[in-house]
Amino acid sequence: MTIFEVIRNDHNLVKKILGEMLSIKDTDQDKQTELLEKLTMELTLHNRAEEQIFYKFLQENAETRDLIEHSKEEHEEVEELFESIKNYNPGDKNWMKQLLEIQKNLLHHIETEETESFDKAKEIMKAGQHHTLADEFQKAKKEWSAKL
Ligand SMILES: [Fe+2]
Ligand SMILES: [Fe+2]
Repeated sequence: MTIFEVIRNDHNLVKKILGEMLSIKDTDQDKQTELLEKLTMELTLHNRAEEQIFYKFLQENAETRDLIEHSKEEHEEVEELFESIKNYNPGDKNWMKQLLEIQKNLLHHIETEETESFDKAKEIMKAGQHHTLADEFQKAKKEWSAKL
């Protein structure tokens, strides 16, 4: 797999969990709590590995440095939303409002990453790095998962 495939797979998983949460009709608090924990964990591991491996690569290039600053801010923003959703009761009106806000932010962030960031990265990345960065990304995720 390439770094782009690995990142895209993570994004798809995050979108899948979000979709599941938004499709629960009844207020199933336990299910929502369980899915929120899963989503928080998946996203945290993804963001840490992404910053450590993919963003670091882009940061070393003058052309892509600004792009990454913005992306990092978006990681912080969405992580704050994950903190504040904990103040609401799973499945209630405010909680759902907050979840929709999370979805909006995440979809925008993912879309930008898979288009703008991927395109620019492909321009500057050597062919061999597509795979080595994928391995480093997976390794970083494992290390974070042992820490969190
Ligand atoms: Fe990201
Ligand atoms: Fe990402």
